[in-house]
Amino acid sequence: MNASTRSKVIAILQEGVTNELGAVIQYLWHHYQAEGIYSPKIKDTFEEFSVEEMEHLEKISERIVALGGEPASKLPPVKKGGDIKQMMQDDLDLELGAAKMYAEHIPQLAKLGDTTSRLMLEKILADEEKHIMEFEIMLSKIRKK
Ligand SMILES: [Fe+2]
Ligand SMILES: [Fe+2]
Repeated sequence: MNASTRSKVIAILQEGVTNELGAVIQYLWHHYQAEGIYSPKIKDTFEEFSVEEMEHLEKISERIVALGGEPASKLPPVKKGGDIKQMMQDDLDLELGAAKMYAEHIPQLAKLGDTTSRLMLEKILADEEKHIMEFEIMLSKIRKK
């Protein structure tokens, strides 16, 4: 990979790092805020998703380091607060944004010829699709109440 391609790949991956940083913190906050108010299942789901986002953050960051870059560390705006429906809706919006972003990054990386980064983002996108489905199911259960 030449230097120009490498810097383009790193710039793409940095967007993922920033999104994941926001997701880790947002879900962790929702985990704290759900403490004692909502069912342990909901509280645990926020924590479980936060950990999964941290794994994404780690994978993308490690790839950036392997390419000679320095992973971004600035936190994007994080949505905390509101009732459970608000939190879930904010989280679903975050997931939809992440999925849209990765769906754009994957063909960009393919075009740049970076199969390793592309495959990594494909796996991460599959996780985000799972998160979207789970948030949608949880939201539909709350709406029925
Ligand atoms: Fe993620
Ligand atoms: Fe996610």
